[in-house]
Amino acid sequence: MENRIEMLDSNARYGAVSRGLHWAMALAFAWIYCTTGAHYLLADSALDTFLWPTHKQVGLLLMGLLLVRLLWSLLNRHRRPPSVNLAATVGHGLLYVAMFAIPFLGLLRQYGSGRAFSAFGLPVMSGFEGPKIQWMTELGNNFHSLLGWTLLLLIVGHVAALILHCVKGDRAILRRMAGGTARG
Ligand code: HEM
Ligand code: HEM
Repeated sequence: MENRIEMLDSNARYGAVSRGLHWAMALAFAWIYCTTGAHYLLADSALDTFLWPTHKQVGLLLMGLLLVRLLWSLLNRHRRPPSVNLAATVGHGLLYVAMFAIPFLGLLRQYGSGRAFSAFGLPVMSGFEGPKIQWMTELGNNFHSLLGWTLLLLIVGHVAALILHCVKGDRAILRRMAGGTARG
C-alpha cells in the first residue's frame, strides 16, 4: 500500500512543506502573542520578564520563515488548492501583507535606533554611533504595535471562518491544510 508524503502542493491540498511552514508559523505566532499579551496586560510580572526578551528573536524567526513561505508559494503557484471564495483570497492576502509589514517595521525601528541587535546568539545588526534615524524609528513607533494587534484580529477572523465552514459540515478546507499522506 502506497503511503507517500507529498512535498509539493496540489489542487486537492497543500503539500508537506506548505503545511509545515503554516503550522510552524502558527505556533511561533502563538508564542509571540503570549509575549505581547504578557507585556501589555502584566507588565513587569515574572511572566513578562520571562517572555518579553524572546519577542524580537521570535519576530525575526517569523520574518525568515515568511520569506521561505513566500518563495515556496511562488514556486507552487500553479498547483495550489483554489481559493474557496473572494473573502478567502482577500483575507489570505491581508495576512501576508501584515506578516511582512510587522516584523519589517520592528526591524526597521531597531536599525534606526542605532542599537546593536543579536538573535539566537548571532549578531544581526552591529548598531552605530550618532543620532537615531528618525523616520525609521517613527514608522516603527507609529505602526508596529497597531498592525501587530490588527493581525491578531485577522487571525481570529481566519480561524472563525474556518470553524464556520466546519460547523456547516464542510471539513474539506481543514483537510487541505491538516497533516496526512497523499492518500489521506
Ligand atoms: C510578526 C512578528 C511580530 C509581531 C506579530 C509583533 C507584534 C507586536 C505587538 C502586538 C506589540 C505591542 C505590544 C504592546 O502593546 O505591549 C509589539 C511591540 C514591540 N515589538 Fe513587535 N512584533 C513582531 C516582531 C518584532 C520584531 C522583529 C521586533 C524587533 C526586532 C519587534 C520589536 C518590538 C518592540 C521593541 C515592541 C515594544 C514597543 C512598541 O510597543 O512598539 N517586534 N510587537
Ligand atoms: C489555529 C490556528 C489556525 C488554523 C486552524 C488555520 C487553518 C488554516 C486552513 C485550514 C487553511 C487552508 C484554507 C484554504 O485552503 O482556503 C489555512 C490557510 C492559511 N492560513 Fe491558517 N490557520 C491557523 C492559523 C494561521 C495563522 C496564525 C496565520 C498567519 C498569521 C495563518 C495564515 C494562513 C494563510 C496565509 C493561509 C493561506 C495558505 C497559505 O498561503 O499558506 N493561519 N489556514
